[in-house]
Amino acid sequence: MNTGLEDVVAAQTILSDVDGANGRLIVRGVSLDDLVATSSYEDLLALLFAGFFPLPADLPAQLGAARVCIFAHVASADEALIALPPVDAMRALLARTEDGDDLTSALNLVAAPAVFIPAMLRLKAGKPAVAPDPARGHAADILAMLTGTAPTSQQAAALDRYLVTVADHGLNASTFAARVVASTKAGLTSSVLAALSALKGPLHGGAPGPVLDMLDAAGSPEQAPAWIEAELARGERLMGFGHRIYRVRDPRADALKAAVRLLAGAGAIDPARLALAEALEGTALAQLKAKKPDRPLDTNVEFYTALLLEALGFPREAFTGVFAMGRVGGWLAHAREQAETGRLIRPLSVYVGPKPREAA
Ligand code: SDX
Repeated sequence: MNTGLEDVVAAQTILSDVDGANGRLIVRGVSLDDLVATSSYEDLLALLFAGFFPLPADLPAQLGAARVCIFAHVASADEALIALPPVDAMRALLARTEDGDDLTSALNLVAAPAVFIPAMLRLKAGKPAVAPDPARGHAADILAMLTGTAPTSQQAAALDRYLVTVADHGLNASTFAARVVASTKAGLTSSVLAALSALKGPLHGGAPGPVLDMLDAAGSPEQAPAWIEAELARGERLMGFGHRIYRVRDPRADALKAAVRLLAGAGAIDPARLALAEALEGTALAQLKAKKPDRPLDTNVEFYTALLLEALGFPREAFTGVFAMGRVGGWLAHAREQAETGRLIRPLSVYVGPKPREAA
């Protein structure tokens, strides 16, 4: 039985192609390297949304206005909601946005994780939420709402590169969830809520936080080999490694490692932390290769994500929420693409339960 729909083609898409054999990612015909080198997150949104939503000439300004509009929901966050883990609090607030299928609904949903995660983090820490500045770029405004101060150009560029890198990635579990809900014509908020719930799992978007836990547990480059060996001996999975599609290194790992190096060059990352990560990555790859020779297990997108988001000031419990800040653009485009097919997604299952008792 093919568990997990491995190798099953469940949709046709013009949005992105994940070439697992060659380690290549293309979004609307543009390679990841070109996207990271030339596009802001706002540019990538326009690329993803083209043909699915009417695109305004001033999309960045309209996204800024959506951040301001969405920020109004923050005031309704009560103590119980603020006490939730940041991603759950963001999900609860996002659920208060009405289902729609137009560009305004889409931009509000792009704005939601970007506004709610920083606000929930600050309110949980007893600090006032910081209102968005619609004139800022999306990545810069996220960091300003998180810290209360304007980010450096390197910090804004590093987060923008992350958002671009994770924005879309074929039919991953959360995007598939978005498409299933879109196929019932439930609306964009419902699709994003389903996708966000799928993203939370540690096998999917919940992995970056545990990567830091792994670095903390390994402790030092000298102790890393023994720690990794013990983890694998216990049958544990190493967070940030392996992938259902990539049989070689996830191209996003190097895109994000370059962003980490950008911050390290600006003194925004402790060189010892980066040295530990690189040492742990090296020993993990060697030991995974030795332990699973028939299954290529390489670094995936989450490993350097962890160092990048930590250096930008996000606490690890918010990493999945930051992942959603980027991936929401892909979810929305896929939801519209699926809705436009007009087909309900409804696969078969094989019944293996008990047979009814024969009539006496
Ligand atoms: C993301 O699909 C996407 O595109 C996802 C994503 C995206 O952008 O949306 O790329 C984002 O989800 C990245 C992955 C983040 N998750 C992690 O880093 C968690 C650790 N990695 C895994 O658990 C695992 O690699 C998966 C879930 C990512 C993929 O697993 P598969 O394809 O279901 O493979 P599998 O579970 O069948 O594993 C095959 C073998 C197993 O060994 P056996 O049981 O056959 O002996 O490889 C082993 C696994 O135990 N294995 C690992 C491992 N990943 C797989 N062993 C140790 N450490 C790991 N990380």
